[in-house]
Amino acid sequence: MSTSKEYFDTIGADWDRMQETFFSERVRVRAFQVAVIEPDRAAVDVGAGTGFITGALLGRGLRVIAVDQSPTMLESLRAKFPDTDALDCRIGDAEQLPVDDASVDYCFANMCLHHVDRPPQAVREMARILKPGGKIVITDLDSHDHAFLLTEHHDRWMGFDRAQIRDWFRDAGLQDVDVGGIDETCCTASHGGERAAISIFVAVGTKPQ
Ligand SMILES: C[S@@+](CC[C@H](N)C(=O)[O-])C[C@H]1O[C@@H](n2cnc3c(N)ncnc32)[C@H](O)[C@@H]1O
Repeated sequence: MSTSKEYFDTIGADWDRMQETFFSERVRVRAFQVAVIEPDRAAVDVGAGTGFITGALLGRGLRVIAVDQSPTMLESLRAKFPDTDALDCRIGDAEQLPVDDASVDYCFANMCLHHVDRPPQAVREMARILKPGGKIVITDLDSHDHAFLLTEHHDRWMGFDRAQIRDWFRDAGLQDVDVGGIDETCCTASHGGERAAISIFVAVGTKPQ
Protein backbone atom coordinates (compact mmCIF):
# COMPACT_ATOMS: atom_id res chain seq x y z
CA MET A 1 0.00 0.00 0.00
CA SER A 2 1.31 3.46 -0.83
CA THR A 3 1.82 6.14 1.81
CA SER A 4 -0.31 9.24 2.25
CA LYS A 5 2.50 11.29 0.68
CA GLU A 6 2.66 9.01 -2.37
CA TYR A 7 -1.14 9.18 -2.64
CA PHE A 8 -1.20 13.00 -2.66
CA ASP A 9 1.82 13.15 -4.97
CA THR A 10 -0.16 10.98 -7.40
CA ILE A 11 -3.48 12.82 -7.25
CA GLY A 12 -2.02 16.35 -7.06
CA ALA A 13 -3.19 17.32 -10.53
CA ASP A 14 -6.73 16.04 -9.84
CA TRP A 15 -7.20 17.39 -6.31
CA ASP A 16 -9.07 20.59 -7.26
CA ARG A 17 -11.70 18.57 -9.14
CA MET A 18 -11.95 15.99 -6.33
CA GLN A 19 -12.16 18.65 -3.62
CA GLU A 20 -15.13 20.33 -5.32
CA THR A 21 -17.09 17.09 -5.03
CA PHE A 22 -16.06 16.53 -1.37
CA PHE A 23 -16.94 19.85 0.31
CA SER A 24 -17.86 23.40 -0.59
CA GLU A 25 -16.88 26.99 -0.07
CA ARG A 26 -18.97 26.95 3.14
CA VAL A 27 -16.06 25.34 5.01
CA ARG A 28 -13.71 28.17 4.14
CA VAL A 29 -16.31 30.86 4.84
CA ARG A 30 -16.89 29.48 8.34
CA ALA A 31 -13.16 29.04 9.01
CA PHE A 32 -12.52 32.68 8.11
CA GLN A 33 -15.47 33.85 10.22
CA VAL A 34 -14.18 32.22 13.39
CA ALA A 35 -10.62 33.42 12.65
CA VAL A 36 -11.79 37.02 12.17
CA ILE A 37 -9.40 37.52 9.26
CA GLU A 38 -7.57 40.85 8.95
CA PRO A 39 -5.41 41.91 5.96
CA ASP A 40 -1.64 42.44 6.17
CA ARG A 41 -1.29 39.56 8.64
CA ALA A 42 0.75 36.38 8.34
CA ALA A 43 -0.85 32.94 8.16
CA VAL A 44 0.29 29.35 7.84
CA ASP A 45 -1.85 26.84 5.95
CA VAL A 46 -0.91 23.34 7.20
CA GLY A 47 -1.52 20.60 4.64
CA ALA A 48 -2.23 23.40 2.18
CA GLY A 49 -2.64 21.08 -0.78
CA THR A 50 -3.43 23.03 -3.94
CA GLY A 51 -4.56 26.09 -2.01
CA PHE A 52 -8.26 25.92 -1.06
CA ILE A 53 -7.48 28.00 2.06
CA THR A 54 -4.25 29.66 0.89
CA GLY A 55 -5.73 31.14 -2.30
CA ALA A 56 -8.54 32.84 -0.40
CA LEU A 57 -6.14 34.18 2.24
CA LEU A 58 -3.95 35.71 -0.48
CA GLY A 59 -7.09 37.22 -1.99
CA ARG A 60 -7.79 38.91 1.34
CA GLY A 61 -4.34 40.47 1.51
CA LEU A 62 -2.54 38.13 3.91
CA ARG A 63 0.95 36.68 3.56
CA VAL A 64 0.82 32.90 3.56
CA ILE A 65 3.30 30.14 4.29
CA ALA A 66 1.81 27.02 2.69
CA VAL A 67 3.20 23.83 4.23
CA ASP A 68 2.59 20.38 2.76
CA GLN A 69 4.31 16.99 2.72
CA SER A 70 3.62 16.65 -1.00
CA PRO A 71 5.80 18.51 -3.53
CA THR A 72 3.23 17.79 -6.26
CA MET A 73 0.40 19.46 -4.36
CA LEU A 74 2.60 22.50 -3.65
CA GLU A 75 3.69 22.73 -7.28
CA SER A 76 0.04 22.93 -8.32
CA LEU A 77 -0.52 25.63 -5.71
CA ARG A 78 2.52 27.68 -6.76
CA ALA A 79 1.47 27.44 -10.43
CA LYS A 80 -1.78 29.26 -9.56
CA PHE A 81 0.12 32.21 -8.04
CA PRO A 82 3.40 32.33 -9.98
CA ASP A 83 4.30 35.96 -9.31
CA THR A 84 3.26 36.84 -5.79
CA ASP A 85 5.81 37.39 -3.02
CA ALA A 86 3.02 36.93 -0.49
CA LEU A 87 3.12 33.14 -0.95
CA ASP A 88 5.92 31.02 0.50
CA CYS A 89 5.55 27.27 -0.21
CA ARG A 90 7.47 24.95 2.11
CA ILE A 91 7.65 21.17 2.01
CA GLY A 92 7.30 19.90 5.55
CA ASP A 93 5.46 17.83 8.11
CA ALA A 94 2.56 19.02 10.23
CA GLU A 95 4.24 17.43 13.25
CA GLN A 96 7.43 19.45 12.75
CA LEU A 97 6.47 22.65 10.96
CA PRO A 98 9.28 24.43 9.08
CA VAL A 99 8.21 27.75 10.61
CA ASP A 100 9.80 29.88 13.37
CA ASP A 101 8.38 30.10 16.89
CA ALA A 102 5.79 32.83 17.54
CA SER A 103 5.96 34.17 13.97
CA VAL A 104 2.42 34.12 12.51
CA ASP A 105 -1.04 35.48 13.34
CA TYR A 106 -3.15 32.58 12.06
CA CYS A 107 -2.71 28.90 11.50
CA PHE A 108 -5.26 27.01 9.38
CA ALA A 109 -5.51 23.28 8.67
CA ASN A 110 -8.39 22.14 6.48
CA MET A 111 -8.87 18.37 6.09
CA CYS A 112 -5.26 17.70 7.04
CA LEU A 113 -5.46 16.51 10.66
CA HIS A 114 -7.11 13.18 9.79
CA HIS A 115 -4.02 12.34 7.70
CA VAL A 116 -1.46 13.10 10.42
CA ASP A 117 0.10 10.29 12.52
CA ARG A 118 0.05 12.24 15.80
CA PRO A 119 -2.68 14.91 15.74
CA PRO A 120 -1.93 16.29 19.25
CA GLN A 121 1.68 16.87 18.19
CA ALA A 122 0.44 18.75 15.11
CA VAL A 123 -1.78 20.94 17.31
CA ARG A 124 1.22 21.66 19.60
CA GLU A 125 3.28 22.65 16.56
CA MET A 126 0.56 25.01 15.34
CA ALA A 127 0.47 26.61 18.81
CA ARG A 128 4.28 26.95 18.81
CA ILE A 129 4.41 29.02 15.62
CA LEU A 130 1.62 31.42 16.65
CA LYS A 131 2.34 34.87 17.99
CA PRO A 132 0.63 35.66 21.32
CA GLY A 133 -2.97 36.49 20.45
CA GLY A 134 -2.79 34.40 17.25
CA LYS A 135 -5.44 31.86 16.32
CA ILE A 136 -5.55 28.25 15.19
CA VAL A 137 -8.51 27.22 13.06
CA ILE A 138 -8.89 23.55 12.19
CA THR A 139 -11.69 22.29 9.97
CA ASP A 140 -11.97 18.52 9.74
CA LEU A 141 -14.22 15.47 9.89
CA ASP A 142 -16.33 14.42 12.85
CA SER A 143 -15.99 10.76 13.94
CA HIS A 144 -17.41 8.39 11.32
CA ASP A 145 -17.48 4.69 10.45
CA HIS A 146 -16.56 4.73 6.75
CA ALA A 147 -13.46 2.54 6.83
CA PHE A 148 -12.97 2.73 3.05
CA LEU A 149 -11.54 6.22 3.57
CA LEU A 150 -8.55 4.65 5.34
CA THR A 151 -7.65 2.53 2.33
CA GLU A 152 -8.99 4.43 -0.68
CA HIS A 153 -8.11 7.98 0.48
CA HIS A 154 -5.22 7.16 2.83
CA ASP A 155 -6.91 8.75 5.84
CA ARG A 156 -5.09 7.93 9.08
CA TRP A 157 -8.05 8.61 11.40
CA MET A 158 -11.79 8.08 11.02
CA GLY A 159 -12.54 11.65 12.03
CA PHE A 160 -12.39 13.02 15.57
CA ASP A 161 -14.57 13.49 18.64
CA ARG A 162 -15.06 17.20 19.24
CA ALA A 163 -14.29 16.76 22.97
CA GLN A 164 -10.94 15.20 22.02
CA ILE A 165 -10.09 18.16 19.79
CA ARG A 166 -11.02 20.52 22.63
CA ASP A 167 -8.65 18.67 24.98
CA TRP A 168 -5.78 18.78 22.47
CA PHE A 169 -6.24 22.54 22.01
CA ARG A 170 -6.28 23.13 25.78
CA ASP A 171 -3.29 20.83 26.32
CA ALA A 172 -1.40 22.92 23.73
CA GLY A 173 -2.00 25.96 25.94
CA LEU A 174 -4.71 27.59 23.85
CA GLN A 175 -7.56 29.58 25.37
CA ASP A 176 -11.05 30.60 24.23
CA VAL A 177 -11.32 27.16 22.66
CA ASP A 178 -14.51 26.43 20.78
CA VAL A 179 -15.37 23.40 18.63
CA GLY A 180 -18.63 23.62 16.73
CA GLY A 181 -20.39 22.39 13.64
CA ILE A 182 -20.58 23.75 10.13
CA ASP A 183 -23.69 23.39 8.04
CA GLU A 184 -21.73 21.20 5.63
CA THR A 185 -20.82 17.56 5.05
CA CYS A 186 -17.90 15.93 3.29
CA CYS A 187 -19.40 13.68 0.63
CA THR A 188 -17.79 10.85 -1.27
CA ALA A 189 -18.37 7.24 -2.28
CA SER A 190 -16.21 4.11 -2.17
CA HIS A 191 -15.20 2.15 -5.26
CA GLY A 192 -17.83 -0.38 -4.14
CA GLY A 193 -20.58 2.23 -3.95
CA GLU A 194 -20.70 2.92 -0.17
CA ARG A 195 -21.76 6.54 0.22
CA ALA A 196 -20.37 8.79 2.97
CA ALA A 197 -21.70 12.18 4.08
CA ILE A 198 -19.62 13.14 7.11
CA SER A 199 -20.30 16.25 9.19
CA ILE A 200 -17.49 18.77 9.51
CA PHE A 201 -16.38 20.64 12.64
CA VAL A 202 -14.57 23.94 13.02
CA ALA A 203 -12.22 24.32 15.99
CA VAL A 204 -10.72 27.63 17.08
CA GLY A 205 -8.32 28.54 19.86
CA THR A 206 -6.20 31.56 20.76
CA LYS A 207 -2.62 31.66 22.05
CA PRO A 208 -2.54 33.62 25.32
CA GLN A 209 -0.97 37.13 25.26
C1 LIG B 1 -7.33 16.22 1.99
S1 LIG B 1 -5.97 17.19 1.44
C2 LIG B 1 -6.53 18.85 1.86
C3 LIG B 1 -5.79 19.92 1.10
C4 LIG B 1 -6.26 21.35 1.37
N1 LIG B 1 -6.07 21.72 2.76
C5 LIG B 1 -7.71 21.54 0.95
O1 LIG B 1 -8.52 21.89 1.80
O2 LIG B 1 -8.01 21.35 -0.24
C6 LIG B 1 -4.77 16.87 2.72
C7 LIG B 1 -3.42 17.54 2.49
O3 LIG B 1 -2.64 17.40 3.66
C8 LIG B 1 -1.33 16.99 3.30
N2 LIG B 1 -0.77 16.24 4.43
C9 LIG B 1 -1.17 15.04 4.90
N3 LIG B 1 -0.43 14.68 5.96
C10 LIG B 1 0.47 15.67 6.16
C11 LIG B 1 1.51 15.88 7.10
N4 LIG B 1 1.77 14.99 8.07
N5 LIG B 1 2.25 17.00 7.01
C12 LIG B 1 2.00 17.91 6.02
N6 LIG B 1 1.02 17.76 5.09
C13 LIG B 1 0.26 16.66 5.17
C14 LIG B 1 -1.52 16.16 2.04
O4 LIG B 1 -0.33 16.06 1.28
C15 LIG B 1 -2.64 16.92 1.34
O5 LIG B 1 -2.13 17.93 0.50
